[in-house]
Amino acid sequence: MTQIARGLQGVYVNETKLSLVDGMGGRLIIAGFPVEELAPNAEYEEALFLLWNNHLPRKAELAGLRREMADQRALPPVTLDMLRAAAQAEMPVMDALRVGVDSLSLSDPAPGDASEEANHRRAVSLAARFPSVIAAFWRLKQGEEPLPPDPKLSHAAGYLYMISGERPHPARVRALDTYLNTVIDHGMNNSTFSARVIVSTRTDMYSAIVGAIGALKGPLHGGAPGPALNMVFEIEERAKKAGQSMQAAAEAWAHEALDAGKRLMGFGHRVYKVRDPRADVLDRAAVQLFQGAGDTKLYEDARAVEQVILRVLEQHRPGSNIKTNVEYYTALVLQGIGLPVELFTPTFAVSRVGGWTAHVLEQIREDELIRPLSEYTGPVDRKWVPLEERS
Ligand code: SDX
Repeated sequence: MTQIARGLQGVYVNETKLSLVDGMGGRLIIAGFPVEELAPNAEYEEALFLLWNNHLPRKAELAGLRREMADQRALPPVTLDMLRAAAQAEMPVMDALRVGVDSLSLSDPAPGDASEEANHRRAVSLAARFPSVIAAFWRLKQGEEPLPPDPKLSHAAGYLYMISGERPHPARVRALDTYLNTVIDHGMNNSTFSARVIVSTRTDMYSAIVGAIGALKGPLHGGAPGPALNMVFEIEERAKKAGQSMQAAAEAWAHEALDAGKRLMGFGHRVYKVRDPRADVLDRAAVQLFQGAGDTKLYEDARAVEQVILRVLEQHRPGSNIKTNVEYYTALVLQGIGLPVELFTPTFAVSRVGGWTAHVLEQIREDELIRPLSEYTGPVDRKWVPLEERS
């Protein structure tokens, strides 16, 4: 009897030096650094350099990467045209990101060059431009003109500036850098695996990254932070209307949702069967943000809701180990930074394009076609029936 690994659950498909996800120990190591060590200390450009080069950049290397990215941040006219069309079509942001990124291949200076150097250049260009594509589209969707990137700003600061037109408060930039570092890479997650499967046929990097964007959009993967925050807002609303405590409102909400067979966004993970270590990193970033802003109500409400949901999940599914995942605190940090909910998943992509490109470069070096098997369960001896005789 063939052993089917549904969803490839528990199957190791390769070796990597990019990240270790320890699901039972609740550990995440990113190119040798525990996420708690890297995320709150690095600027995102340093985490990018680390993934692409397997060491933190020295001063000159970091200055070089910052210059390369600044030179790449402006969007080609054809991409801006595509984003205008996407805004007129009122596309969801993740779809516009997919369309915009795909159009960048039209402006590749050497599309046929498959050398490691050309692919490294593409990785830098793609990472530099994800914020530009998202911010340009977001402004077009609001009826405003895209802003040119400010070469004096860092990657995280520049992203916030291109969205709002204001130079962001340093506390918000630090929180965004911490978030971008926290989710930059995460083993063989669905979108990263998708990128590796695509590029394993020796196709181009754009095809792989566009596929990964499509995968990340899904609510079971990257699409969870928005609904997770909306859940807290709904429970706050319910508590206010019913004159209930947050705990009582959360209890009722969670039982109703689970009884209706719904999944609670921000909870559960295919690999982590304990609390996602990234939740703690982002929890610390969130509390700093909200304390700095002088209003911790949303943060305290979210903490209260989280405790109730964990208890109710255990009641509904004893022993299932459905714990808080990264998305629950992602929602709080991005809300605290002032990003609209519609930009939560696109901001996940701003970070994860670092991991995707690093895995694509690693897969190209490995040069191994990914092609699993499937167990056929249909008939094998059907006879041809001409159209006129088919009943
Ligand atoms: C990310 O893989 C990665 O590394 C991803 C990620 C990354 O950095 O790339 O970490 C990012 O994707 C985080 C996860 C974000 N998604 C969500 O928060 C959506 C809600 N969570 C889930 O849908 C779910 O937990 C998954 C998909 C994330 C993981 O699912 P599993 O562990 O593979 O389990 P499963 O889907 O097979 O579910 C097993 C059972 C099911 O019930 P039955 O069909 O057996 O009756 O557990 C239930 C599920 O319905 N379940 C939940 C639940 N998560 C699982 N029930 C309610 N609420 C939940 N959150």
